[in-house]
Amino acid sequence: MKELLTVTDLSSGYGAVPVVRSVDFTVHAGEVFAIVGGNGAGKTTLLSTVSGLLRPTAGSVRLAGTDVTGWAPERIVPLGLVHIPEGRRLFTGLTVAEHLRLGLWNVPGGRSVERARTERVVDLFPVLGERMDAYAEVLSGGEQQMLAIGQALMREPRVLLLDEPSIGLAPVIVRRVFAAVDRLRAEGLAVVLVEQRVGQALELADRGLVLRHGRVAATGTPAELADGSALRTAYLGAAAGRTTEEGR
Ligand SMILES: Nc1ncnc2c1ncn2[C@@H]1O[C@H](COP(=O)(O)OP(=O)(O)O)[C@@H](O)[C@H]1O
Ligand SMILES: [Mg+2]
Repeated sequence: MKELLTVTDLSSGYGAVPVVRSVDFTVHAGEVFAIVGGNGAGKTTLLSTVSGLLRPTAGSVRLAGTDVTGWAPERIVPLGLVHIPEGRRLFTGLTVAEHLRLGLWNVPGGRSVERARTERVVDLFPVLGERMDAYAEVLSGGEQQMLAIGQALMREPRVLLLDEPSIGLAPVIVRRVFAAVDRLRAEGLAVVLVEQRVGQALELADRGLVLRHGRVAATGTPAELADGSALRTAYLGAAAGRTTEEGR
């Protein structure tokens, strides 16, 4: 499998406050890589550093062989890495169709590219096809998350960073969103999935890491992560679900 994203010894923070410390991980084409950890562990900070929203204080980020360390997002996105932020960040007063078009910002190809890519998004999320003229703010939470993913897919990324897509969604909707992620993986995308819902994320993931106080507490396959104590410690028994129950 082709190595698409390589994060090496990455550190970052806010001002003088370090948050992410010496994080390493690699994601290949056709792989879902889960980053799990409790509230405040540094998951969002880590994703933002990878996507260029935050500058690293040390370490490097390579995207399909290109060193993009310290690059701004507008230089990284055209190389095929798109970050879907926590909380979806859609625009009030813009429709589904307008959000998808916005996803094509600065992409050459005009109407024919727009049509073809919209078709792919609607094939993945049929409900968006039925709601093209609806404003983002009237969509359900699940539809909003699908739109946020759909907007990112308009750029045909090779690497997708997804920050807590399951937040606020019913389990049945989470399954639908995760099924779409599964399909994207089958199409060869590399997906980095940040989640507090450890159980469902690890069911989907090929590999992952547990982040604790900004450091990698454990890394490996879902089975390896569930076996070790890192998950339990990272959540202090609060949100680790099954794993926590077994540990009691
Ligand atoms: N914009 C910011 N300015 C200063 N500190 C921040 C900012 N965003 C997050 N932090 C701090 O960084 C730490 C990690 O936060 P975050 O990356 O959001 O964690 P997570 O996504 O795992 O919940 C927390 O202690 C948080 O308070
Ligand atoms: Mg977060």
